Amino acid sequence: MARAQSRYVCQSCGASVLRWEGQCRTCGEWNSLVETVVRDEPRPRILSGVASAGAAIPVSLAAAGEHGDEARRPVGIGELDRVLGGGLVAGSVVLLGGEPGIGKSTLLLQAAAGIAATGASVLYATGEESTSQVRLRAMRLGLASGAVAESIRVVAETGVGRIVELGRADGLGMLVVDSVQTVASEELDGPPGSVGQVREATQRLMEYAKTEGVPVILVGHVTKDGTLAGPKTLEHLVDVVLNVEGDRTGGLRLLRATKNRYGSTEEVGVFEMGERGLTEVADPARAFLADHDAPAPGSVVAPVLEGSRPILVEVQALVAPTGAPSPRRTASGVDPNRLALLVAVLGRRAGIGLAGHDVYANLAGGLTVSEPGLDLPLALALASSLRDRPVVPGTVAIGEVGLLGELRTVGGLDRRLREASRLGFTRALVPRPRGRAVPAIAGLEVVVVGTLGDAVRAALGDSTTSGGRRP
Ligand code: TYD
Ligand code: MG
Repeated sequence: MARAQSRYVCQSCGASVLRWEGQCRTCGEWNSLVETVVRDEPRPRILSGVASAGAAIPVSLAAAGEHGDEARRPVGIGELDRVLGGGLVAGSVVLLGGEPGIGKSTLLLQAAAGIAATGASVLYATGEESTSQVRLRAMRLGLASGAVAESIRVVAETGVGRIVELGRADGLGMLVVDSVQTVASEELDGPPGSVGQVREATQRLMEYAKTEGVPVILVGHVTKDGTLAGPKTLEHLVDVVLNVEGDRTGGLRLLRATKNRYGSTEEVGVFEMGERGLTEVADPARAFLADHDAPAPGSVVAPVLEGSRPILVEVQALVAPTGAPSPRRTASGVDPNRLALLVAVLGRRAGIGLAGHDVYANLAGGLTVSEPGLDLPLALALASSLRDRPVVPGTVAIGEVGLLGELRTVGGLDRRLREASRLGFTRALVPRPRGRAVPAIAGLEVVVVGTLGDAVRAALGDSTTSGGRRP
């Protein structure tokens, strides 16, 4: 078979050579050569969201929106549609990332069923599993028979050219490629999953999506450090990047958009993995609260905002004395740098010395939160664990901690506190709101705390913490 030529192109200086080398001879950059297809005729231009047949014609901004909203097709799974911004946009390319086993294939099979239920057909290209494995999953989900099952076609194919060819069938409402790291272009020599292959496959599928107007969903694996494996450039190419997060051993899954050209990246979807796939969680605000029989030292509930959605999450801390010269600081679900900073501020500004202690902190339910408002609850959880005293029952706390031990308020305070009150909490520790009154919420005692030291005393309901004394 005559092969299109491939070259190795330096991503740093653009020089191209015939064979792979570890270092670019032109600019000296290491590991910058990526296998790339060299075509005789130029590839059709891709503009995001625009199928440009021929040369593009400038339009005035006033006229640019005239076609109204992009055609969206709701998937029929409320939480997924919410994160997508109302549904799948025709011709868009979505990258769905997540750790292995987190539930990506499950979610996409359920989404395929949702699209099929609207009367369109779906092509599911699987490079990781055989068609019978996909069918087994479909049986588990109760999707293996009936009209919906008829409209979902599964193909075990890894050649991107062949997938695109199959995708030109009439009435296709969605194309799933599971996963982008297993597909390869016939024109490149590199193995599937290599930078050149992943990028080429994505580009071919984008051309397909834009010219056919069919939404394409690519599954992308996430490496240990949490980035999408393969080139980071994939995230720039595609229209939407979604991530499935959660603790694989637990049931809860969070779907988050880290990029969305057609909607906000503010929304999160909350699911629960059960016996029959992913189900939407009825009350997401409550989902991440752990149940305790008795109040536990080291546990503080924080009303955080995930996008526009208030979620109550339990911050847990454990501090234990250690003789090691450099004590452990282990964080999961919270920023380790923030944890280290809070340990320092607690020691210097609130008399809570943790220098001789190992410190562990995490969020219940496998949630990951990166908002400054988590500082105060985390600091209180550390203090509570060190004192081995639970915080006053029914208490929530939210606020940012400064280097001087001063506290700063967070946005969306009313919404957070209303949600806490709705879920039965009766007391909230918050910094003084800037330029406004303390929110008044029925059934919730709002306690304004000025410094970290105040907050610790108010949280533990005592006055024994000042002056750095140890119990
Ligand atoms: P899967 O969708 O295969 O994950 P990914 O594609 O992200 O690698 O889901 C894998 C896990 O989900 C697997 O450990 C089994 C579990 N699971 C359920 O608990 N219930 C179900 O109904 C299904 C289909 C899977
Ligand atoms: Mg999978």
